[in-house]
Amino acid sequence: MRPQDLIRIKRDGGALNAEQIRAFVRGVTSGEIPDYQTSALLMAIFLRGMNRDETVALTRSMIESGSRADLSSIPGLKVDKHSTGGVGDKTSIPLAALVAACGVSVPMISGRGLGHTGGTLDKLESIKGFRTNLPIPEFVDTVRKVGACLIGQTADLAPADKKLYALRDVTATVECPPLIASSILSKKAAEGIDALVMDVKTGSGSFLKGLERCRELARTIVEVGTGLGLRVVAFLTDMDQPLGRAVGNALEIEESIECLKGKGPSDLETLVVEMAAEMLVLAGTAKLIDPARERIRFAIRDGTGLKKLREIVVAQGGNGKVVEEPSRLPQAERSTPFPSPSSGFVTAMDAEAVGLAAMALGAGRRTVEDRIDPAAGILLRKKLGDRVEKGEPLLELRHAEATPLEEARAFLSRAYRFGSAPPPGRPVVLGRILG
Ligand code: URA
Repeated sequence: MRPQDLIRIKRDGGALNAEQIRAFVRGVTSGEIPDYQTSALLMAIFLRGMNRDETVALTRSMIESGSRADLSSIPGLKVDKHSTGGVGDKTSIPLAALVAACGVSVPMISGRGLGHTGGTLDKLESIKGFRTNLPIPEFVDTVRKVGACLIGQTADLAPADKKLYALRDVTATVECPPLIASSILSKKAAEGIDALVMDVKTGSGSFLKGLERCRELARTIVEVGTGLGLRVVAFLTDMDQPLGRAVGNALEIEESIECLKGKGPSDLETLVVEMAAEMLVLAGTAKLIDPARERIRFAIRDGTGLKKLREIVVAQGGNGKVVEEPSRLPQAERSTPFPSPSSGFVTAMDAEAVGLAAMALGAGRRTVEDRIDPAAGILLRKKLGDRVEKGEPLLELRHAEATPLEEARAFLSRAYRFGSAPPPGRPVVLGRILG
């Protein structure tokens, strides 16, 4: 069948079969199908959707477009966690250390920050010497020896996703649950895992807006992941304000270390404990969620999580001393308070605006080629429900002396809303979807 025949089927609301989808993905990967036909099919999928079988077939074909890491020499089930991305979301770092400290292997392929969201790789690279570009054999070896390894996407894992994602980015077809699910799951399955905890962020700082669309994405990921033979649990979690109090790469490493010492912000600790406990259950080392939570909390109390983070840092070439002395992390030249324009309770926050302000200070990228300043970022002195007086610092900007602050200030001036009473409390975990 010609690409235009597949486009026509989808355009008219039909379903593609596995063979048709495989041929399409092969043609995209080899370059035989031109971008204009791929883009037309992506738009037809965006508008018409895909059923579960089509999405499973698409994900399988994307996995088959490249190689797969072989983790079978490592005993036990291998479990990863992935997030759709948010502001201040450093969960992966303490979580990987805690789960590995509890004896479960965590192979983690992470991403970089772009736009208002941060990326785990950029955060880790703020630790001097930390390598995120390990080749797959070294990645496997590190998971075997240390229990966890966090690296970036390699060119040979799910290459079809790279091509499709680049086209989606420029054809307004990113925000589509079956395309997002296949994109994420193809990369995750190619990394050789058995189980996945998925964190779907929802709120002002999430990339997919609207609770219902986020819930649909979470359900799709669970269904399609299960269809691929993975054990998957998805969480719907709050991104109506940044997670924790630190936004920016070195600042978030410092907060991750605080979390592993049991001194982190409560929303971050809750999320880490909930998702890490779910990973122990998925791996089969805990039968029930309550004892799993207790094991994770114990690994915070007895310091084994922190010790494991040091081991991971050293194994990946980083300076392990930062774990005991976070002041060794890059430090910004300047700290500038951002005063509150009003008195009252913080009733709403625009997490995306905070992320964009951090990007404007140098903590993030506008384009994939941009360089980042690892020390730049924002510390939140006030969050939802906090009382503030006019002129009191709402936030603290960390930046280089030469960084202009106008753009960050413009974003931050619309990031907070105030009222005479605190808003109703909102839990960080809004839902859990089991496979
Ligand atoms: N993250 C991904 O890896 N893929 C998407 O499509 C969206 C977010």
